[in-house]
Amino acid sequence: MVKLSVCVGSSCHLRGAYDIIKIFESLIKQYKLEDKIKLTAEFCCGNCTQPVSVKIDQNGPFSVTRENAGEFFKKYFLEV
Ligand code: FES
Repeated sequence: MVKLSVCVGSSCHLRGAYDIIKIFESLIKQYKLEDKIKLTAEFCCGNCTQPVSVKIDQNGPFSVTRENAGEFFKKYFLEV
């Protein structure tokens, strides 16, 4: 099980963390990855100047926006 965590600290929240979570949720459902990816929320990881911080297990933070969230997901979870 891979842990996909989205920062919900105040800065990331303002930059659309909730939307990113929704996008990941629907992609996980769409590709039936519920038993492979555990989507969680995390507090600030000190990357606040960037778009929404996302980690995959201990990797990252990656900076994800509403616009590139789908592409990010596909790159890390569908093209491996
Ligand atoms: S609020 Fe998300 S990295 Fe700080």
